[in-house]
Amino acid sequence: MKFIIETYGCQMNVADSELVSSILISAGHTPVTDIDEAQAIIFNTCSVRDHAEQRVLGRIANEKHRKNTDPELKIGVIGCMAQRVGKRLMEIEPGIDFVVGVDQYQHLPSILDDSLSSEEDTLYMDPSQIYPGIMPYRQDKNCGFVTVMRGCNNFCSYCIVPYVRGRERSRPVDDIYTEVRRATEVGLRDITLLGQNVNSYQHDGYRFPDLLKKLNDIESLWRLRFVTSHPKDLSDELISAMASCTKVCEHIHLPLQAGDDQMLKKMNRSYDIDHYLGLIDKLRTAIPDIAITTDLMVGFPSETQSQFENTLRVMERIRFDYAFCFKYSEREGTVAATYKDQVPENERLRRLQTMIDLQRQITFEKFQEQIGKNVEVYVEDFSRKSQDMVSGKTRDFKIAVLSGSSDKIGGLSMAKVIDATAGTLICE
Ligand code: 5AD
Ligand code: SF4
Repeated sequence: MKFIIETYGCQMNVADSELVSSILISAGHTPVTDIDEAQAIIFNTCSVRDHAEQRVLGRIANEKHRKNTDPELKIGVIGCMAQRVGKRLMEIEPGIDFVVGVDQYQHLPSILDDSLSSEEDTLYMDPSQIYPGIMPYRQDKNCGFVTVMRGCNNFCSYCIVPYVRGRERSRPVDDIYTEVRRATEVGLRDITLLGQNVNSYQHDGYRFPDLLKKLNDIESLWRLRFVTSHPKDLSDELISAMASCTKVCEHIHLPLQAGDDQMLKKMNRSYDIDHYLGLIDKLRTAIPDIAITTDLMVGFPSETQSQFENTLRVMERIRFDYAFCFKYSEREGTVAATYKDQVPENERLRRLQTMIDLQRQITFEKFQEQIGKNVEVYVEDFSRKSQDMVSGKTRDFKIAVLSGSSDKIGGLSMAKVIDATAGTLICE
C-alpha cells in the first residue's frame, strides 16, 4: 500500500515515524509525500496538551471524507494519543480504522494487509520494547535523530508522558554506535540523540557521558546533539564530557518549567532554582558561548501572579537563547489534574503572552550579540527567500543564511555574522 505518516508533537514522534516507515517499507509498502495518493494515512499523535489532540481529531475529520469516493482508504492513529485514549478513539471519530500504541508498531504491516490476528493486543505497553535492529527511514539528507532511550520515570505532576510511554529503558551502546555511524556514512553528519530524559541513559554500566565519548570517536560524524535533558540528571561528568568532546555542539535544551521553588515542588521537578542557576553557571564556565534553550509553563494550578513574575525574573537573569513557552493544560490521570485551584483560562493566556513577549526580546538581543562573530554553518538547503542564498544551522543551533549555491549544500561553511533577526543570523 502507499502510505503517509502525519507527525505531531516532539522529536521522539518524528523519530518514531521514521521507525514506522522503515517497518512498513520492509514489509513491501511504499511511502508517498502527496496525501491524495495515499491508501493509508497514519497519524502519529501527541498527548502532551489538549490542543495537540484536538488538532489531530480535526485533521482526521477532514480526511475521512475521502472514504466516500475511496472506501478502501485506511486511517490509523499511533503514538501517545493512541496509547492514552485507546480503541475509544474509534467511537469518538468513526473514520478511524486502527489504533496502535507506542510499543506495538511491529503489527502495522499485518494491520495494513488485514492479516492481524484478533488475539493481538495493539495497545499493550511493553516495558522492554526498544525496536532493535531497525534502521529508521530518513527523509532529511543532512541531520538525523537516533533514539537512545524510551520512556520516563520522573512523573512530573502535569505530564502525561510516563503514563503513555511507560518506564525508562535504554538501547545498547553498540546498537546506537552502529546506527550513528551508518547515518553519518550516508551523509547525515549532524546527529541528535533522543530520549524523553536522555541524560538518564544507562545500559550495561554505560552512562550518558560514556556514550557521548564513544560516539565522539566516529570520524564521519561532524556534530552531536541531544534532547531532552533533565536538570536533576545533568552531572558534572556530563558537563565535562560536553566540553571535551569536540563533536558535541555548544547547545543544551534544559527545561526549567518554572522560576519559582514552590511551583517546581508542586510540579515534582526535584530541583530548585538555586540548583538550576548553579547548572547554568557550570555550563557557561565549562563551555563559553553555549546556547541554552528551555521549556517554560504558565498557569500551573495555584500559580499566583507573583510566582509567575518569579519565572519572568529568572528568564531575565538566565537569558535563554530561546524558550518554548506553554500554557498549562490539564491531563486526565496526572496528579496536577486533581488540584482544585486551577488558574482561569484567560489568565493563563495573558501570562503566556507576557512570557512570549519577554522571551522574544531576549532572543532578539541574543541574536544581535552574534553580529561580528565567525560561525560554522552546516549548510542544509537553499534559503527559502532566495536561490542565491543557502541556509543551515550553527553549532549552537541557530538558523543562518549566507550567499552560496548548491555546491555548499551538505558541507560546512565558515561565515561571519553581519546582521540578525530574532530567528536568523545573516552571514557572509
Ligand atoms: N501542559 C502544558 N505543557 C506541558 N508540557 C508537558 N506537559 C504539559 C501540560 N500538561 C510541556 C513541558 C515539557 C514540554 C515538552 O511540554 O514544558 O517540557
Ligand atoms: Fe514529562 Fe517530566 Fe518526563 Fe519530561 S521529564 S517527559 S516533563 S514527566
